[in-house]
Amino acid sequence: MTEFKTPIKGTVNMNFNDKITIPPSPFLNRLGYGTGVNVMQLVRSPRAGQIRSPWALKMLNKRVKPNKVYTDRLKAEADLLKRMSHPNIVGFRAFGNSKILYLGMEACDLSLGDMIEKRIEDDGEAFLPRQILKVAADIASALDYLHTKMQILHGDMKSYNILVNGDFVTCKLCDFGVTLPLDENGVFEKSRSGKSVYFGTEAWSAPEVIHGGQICDKTDIWPLGLTLWEMMALMPPHTQVEDDDDSYMENSVQCLDDLDESIDEYFSDKYGTRPAVPINISEKVYAHPLALFYCCTESMSAMRPSAHHLAIAAHDMLEQCQKGN
Ligand SMILES: Nc1ncnc2c1ncn2[C@@H]1O[C@H](COP(=O)(O)OP(=O)(O)OP(=O)(O)O)[C@@H](O)[C@H]1O
Ligand SMILES: [Mg+2]
Repeated sequence: MTEFKTPIKGTVNMNFNDKITIPPSPFLNRLGYGTGVNVMQLVRSPRAGQIRSPWALKMLNKRVKPNKVYTDRLKAEADLLKRMSHPNIVGFRAFGNSKILYLGMEACDLSLGDMIEKRIEDDGEAFLPRQILKVAADIASALDYLHTKMQILHGDMKSYNILVNGDFVTCKLCDFGVTLPLDENGVFEKSRSGKSVYFGTEAWSAPEVIHGGQICDKTDIWPLGLTLWEMMALMPPHTQVEDDDDSYMENSVQCLDDLDESIDEYFSDKYGTRPAVPINISEKVYAHPLALFYCCTESMSAMRPSAHHLAIAAHDMLEQCQKGN
């Protein structure tokens, strides 16, 4: 899914010492990859008879030319992760800055994006309401902490930046490489951010990002709504051609380049809009996940719930859902 990688920007600096020995990459399992980075699993041998949990190491991709933007991004992410502690935010473990640049984190099972892709290959059934509500509750709780305690906008909410353990036992937010500072009112503080602008992945971006408008804490709520939609539709937002819509093929195209452009335009025209509920989703069975999806994807940011209110609502719905089973 390289087309859904986060674009690039620049940021801060930091310095720590190497704390671990990293085996050569062929001995490491790849957990995932991103813009100029690989995330590898480091299995740690037992110490003093105790089993030690594996780590996830985010490292620059050797095949990509050394690039200050990627380096600075990883350093900034490590700097921020180190300062945070929340059950729904991936845990910081180490940062190495000498021979190899790496960010060590707690290892989780899979990203939600990878789970969605796997689901399409398996049974193709939408995720269950309780699984969607658990993602909403856990990630809204992480965003509440990020927005209010840390005064930071995640800036790249999407299924690939949510990590899941087991059958949605815990969901954790990851990928803090393109965050932005917020003021005490939850508004993006341009003066504190240098040249930084919102760099999240376009298909998930809120209308205020696509059309230009005030970026604030609610700018993370829109893509969370789209992430809940992804769990019902099993596809990234705005990648679906409507059955009765052949406008993207109109003006009979002369060469493949034109076709590419017209398809790109067809999809990008939809960015910043609320996608339709997939036809196979029952309004009754999915009433709660749909209610959250609708309120998160209000086009006016002020109409969207805060992460705090969203977390409370999702927890309540989850409880009701579990009582009903
Ligand atoms: N702690 C972790 N445990 C397990 N898998 C992880 C962990 N951190 C990252 N991953 C996997 O690696 C992928 C890439 O990591 P991450 O999103 O942090 O990189 P990125 O360069 O910032 O990505 P992108 O450009 O797509 O935003 C994730 O989507 C996930 O699949
Ligand atoms: Mg990512």
